[in-house]
Amino acid sequence: MFYDAIANNHGLPHDPFKALVVPRPIGWISSLAPSGEVNLAPYSYFNAVGSDPHYVMFSSDGYKHSVSNIEATKEFVCNLATWDLREQMNLTSAPVPAGIDEMRIAGLTPAPSRLVRPPRVAETPVALECIYTQTVELPSHDPSSPNVVVIGKVVGVHIDDAFIRNGLVDSAAMKPIARCGYMDYAVVTEMFSMRRPSAVDAESLAAVSPKPVAG
Ligand SMILES: Cc1cc2nc3c(=O)[nH]c(=O)nc-3n(C[C@H](O)[C@H](O)[C@H](O)COP(=O)(O)O)c2cc1C
Repeated sequence: MFYDAIANNHGLPHDPFKALVVPRPIGWISSLAPSGEVNLAPYSYFNAVGSDPHYVMFSSDGYKHSVSNIEATKEFVCNLATWDLREQMNLTSAPVPAGIDEMRIAGLTPAPSRLVRPPRVAETPVALECIYTQTVELPSHDPSSPNVVVIGKVVGVHIDDAFIRNGLVDSAAMKPIARCGYMDYAVVTEMFSMRRPSAVDAESLAAVSPKPVAG
């Protein structure tokens, strides 16, 4: 099938889009309100971008509390959502009023960060401390609810030492969860490795596939 994404005339009972970009990592974002209350919420329009330095981005459907906190206080932490913490992660998505601490609601423990003020989730094996970089507002069909992309620079990284084996991080052992379409999630428990083609490989690949001759 093909459908016009602007008309969104897919003809299916539910919009399939989120089932097509899968699995999406979940940024479990902790931030502080200007008045000091902790805020924690999951965002699956989330990813890492950039290598030197590393940046992360998440996108909010409208100006949710995480966005207003981060714009005001300039700092946040991305906690890794894992299989063991799936129920707690889901609880922190409840649409509670500003100033209510979702970390407490979900029974999670705030652990002090090193370089930023918002706490990280003590129970998670990975936390990225971030400094707010910029907001990019992408127009939406509903002007009252723009797509608000928040970008932050990663300035500090916590890894639970139990997951470092022979100098490598065993990500599969952390069982990260990711968002799929509908009510679905994926859990990562297996990895496979592949070596990228080297410059020498690329040269021989180019040699065996000559340019098509015009005409
Ligand atoms: C797994 C998961 C992923 C989510 N991803 C997003 C997202 O990418 N963007 C968004 O606006 N809301 C997303 N939500 C909903 C927010 O978590 C929810 O609206 C939350 O109340 C926002 O909290 P805040 O206002 O404290 O930032 C997601 C919810 C779940 C459970």
